[in-house]
Amino acid sequence: MTAVRPAGPPSDGFAVSPTLAINERVAELRREGRDVLHLGFGEAGLPVHPVLRQALAGAAHLNSYGPVDGSSSLRGAIAGWFNRRGLPTEPAAVVVTPGSKAALFALLLALPGDVILPRPSWVSYAPQATMLGKRTLAHPAPAVSGGIPDPGTLPEALAQHRRDGLDPRIMIVTVPDNPTGTFPDTALLARLVEVARAEGVTIIADQIYAELAYDPAAVPDVAAIAPETTFVTTGLSKAYALGGWRFGVVRVPANALGEATRLRLRAIGSEIWSCVPAPIAAAAQVVYEAPAELTSYLDAARQVHAGLCGAVHRIVERTGMSCRPPQAAFYLYPALHNGGCPAWSADDLATELLEGQRIAVLPGTAFGDDPAFLRFRLATSLLYGTTEDQRWETLSSARQGNLLSLPRIANALDRIEAGLSALVAAHGRVHPCPE
Ligand SMILES: Cc1ncc(COP(=O)(O)O)c(C=O)c1O
Repeated sequence: MTAVRPAGPPSDGFAVSPTLAINERVAELRREGRDVLHLGFGEAGLPVHPVLRQALAGAAHLNSYGPVDGSSSLRGAIAGWFNRRGLPTEPAAVVVTPGSKAALFALLLALPGDVILPRPSWVSYAPQATMLGKRTLAHPAPAVSGGIPDPGTLPEALAQHRRDGLDPRIMIVTVPDNPTGTFPDTALLARLVEVARAEGVTIIADQIYAELAYDPAAVPDVAAIAPETTFVTTGLSKAYALGGWRFGVVRVPANALGEATRLRLRAIGSEIWSCVPAPIAAAAQVVYEAPAELTSYLDAARQVHAGLCGAVHRIVERTGMSCRPPQAAFYLYPALHNGGCPAWSADDLATELLEGQRIAVLPGTAFGDDPAFLRFRLATSLLYGTTEDQRWETLSSARQGNLLSLPRIANALDRIEAGLSALVAAHGRVHPCPE
């Protein structure tokens, strides 16, 4: 059996991201004629709204380099978007980048110190930090924590890391979280923020999924809790399904730290990407001005993500695996067993699902999780359809309340149920790990 776990970060940190690697592996299997259900890649899977196509096309003639950190009108629109969400923001506190990945990399380059990450956490944080010569401290994020490091045990862990010679000064939190599709409650997040303050740790809040929370008002805002020390990153890839357009945002705190970092981000941008592509910037401006068409697109997108993730969650529970109910985006993070299992690893599990059941998932190890914890991430968004027409049909079915009876969705759900049930039947009892 061919191992399908994409190459994890090698010792020097320079490997293709696991999420892109699984995508390439699935394409390869499909070229060989194998019918693979692709639950391995977190692309939003919905069509481009016509308002944005028009904005992009109408700006195609713009071929000059623009300002490194975005035009003042674009930064004004983005500041307005933050202000409408209750986060007072001046245009000068906004920096735009070609994707939030670039924003995160630039922030990690601009800020000093080693990096505290939740374990598990999104695939790219640790490799980015490693590429920049930083060390990463992966602190457990218990299932109930909604993806953030456990604040109760963090101070002691930091003290130990400092004794070991590390210099933890940055913490990344993903709210809502990938891979778990969950978010913390405000009280728990506030406890973590208190720890960060007391420890002199700056927070990077990756909020790329905030608009895709099924109940957006319920998502706590890290920068509202810790305005003086939080850098927010976000972008258009997920909520507006514009991953390939590459547009990201950083919001810096309104103080000396924020200003110094903003100047560094400008310097980094000026030496690497120069500016965001002008036609993309024009389309982004439309997004952040929030016309009614896009608000209604976003409502429908949330219904699609919540509807399908909810259905897959019910299947996962029926198989007997444990999984937090998803609260945002298009991810679930089931566990075959709650306890560690020395006999079998999450990588074996992902290999088995792909080779045996033709279902592509990412093993928990891709997110830095312990291999003995048999956890894996399911991304449901590539089930929405392969053509634009199918994707529009998916959106309108969700609006009409019949998403799950669309034949391609119903078939995919059947395959997921059969595949996961077979996995549990084959391995749930063979490796009776402790609960
Ligand atoms: C948590 C998280 N942050 C950032 C990104 C990167 O998004 P972008 O397309 O803006 O670079 C992703 C994409 O999968 C993500 O899941």
